[in-house]
Amino acid sequence: MRTVVAITGASSGIGAVFARKLAPAHDLLLIARRKERLEGLSRQLASEHGAVVDILVADLSKQDDLDRVATRIESDPNLTLLVNNAGFGTRGLFWKAPYDQQEQMHKLHILATLRLTHAALRNLVPRDRGGIINVASVSAFIRSPGSAGYAATKSWMTAFTEGIYLELKYANSRVAVQALCPGFTYSEFHDVMSVDRNKTAPPFFWLKAEDVVDASLDGLRRRKLFVVPGWQYRFLTALFTKIPAEWRLALESKSRKSPALAPPSENRQGERR
Ligand SMILES: NC(=O)c1ccc[n+]([C@@H]2O[C@H](COP(=O)([O-])OP(=O)(O)OC[C@H]3O[C@@H](n4cnc5c(N)ncnc54)[C@H](OP(=O)(O)O)[C@@H]3O)[C@@H](O)[C@H]2O)c1
Repeated sequence: MRTVVAITGASSGIGAVFARKLAPAHDLLLIARRKERLEGLSRQLASEHGAVVDILVADLSKQDDLDRVATRIESDPNLTLLVNNAGFGTRGLFWKAPYDQQEQMHKLHILATLRLTHAALRNLVPRDRGGIINVASVSAFIRSPGSAGYAATKSWMTAFTEGIYLELKYANSRVAVQALCPGFTYSEFHDVMSVDRNKTAPPFFWLKAEDVVDASLDGLRRRKLFVVPGWQYRFLTALFTKIPAEWRLALESKSRKSPALAPPSENRQGERR
């Protein structure tokens, strides 16, 4: 029998790639705001793989939508995997960036992850199966000016995932959890932020979403808690988490020219439809 994978932020980028990679073996529950995108992907995956693909159109930063999605995830008898992937980045120094975007990002990265992880574990732990992937970022370990709020939410995601890992171990549960920590990845993420990829980082740092998802699914099979795709990012995260804090902060403050430092030209981040 095909089990069900629920993916938030499945309408583009890393989330859509998770859906494509998992459709040959699983039924899917795809969640995002853009209905047409979800319907298009759902039709394609159903016809190519015979997957049953349900969509839930939801803004996960809104309480009613989040509750509706959580109820569905908690009650699906065939749920096997939840991917908490929906997210976006913001631009500008924290006090110059619009506050409502910061708040929306915190609700999406933190409260939606909290709520949906709770719902999924209530479903999976009694059946002693399945897993949860939380899509964090290398920003959890390597910060820079212009991403204070973003990096803090991703650090929360990694700390939370680690705590759940410990609790599952304590409970002798076979449910797996993973914090996926990608670096710069080709997707719509930087388009939503309206930043130029070429000015953000040299080509060497850019990852393909397909490679990020392959590393994550391979890590899930091996029950790895932290997955950092790409050797360049594994090197950097190992370095930044081991050197003294004052050295780390000195290096992090060097990224002064990042386009993410420019304040947003228009108030549309995270508001894409
Ligand atoms: N790309 C990178 O360089 C990079 C690096 C590290 C980590 N990440 C993380 O990877 C994850 C996926 O991002 P991506 O790179 O694939 O970017 P993306 O192509 O922009 O995808 C983001 C997804 O999140 C959904 N989303 C955004 N706000 C939402 C909301 N309020 N409610 C529900 N869904 C929402 C979007 O769908 P709708 O607009 O249709 O709602 C979209 O499907 C994010 O958590 C991001 O922080 C990305």
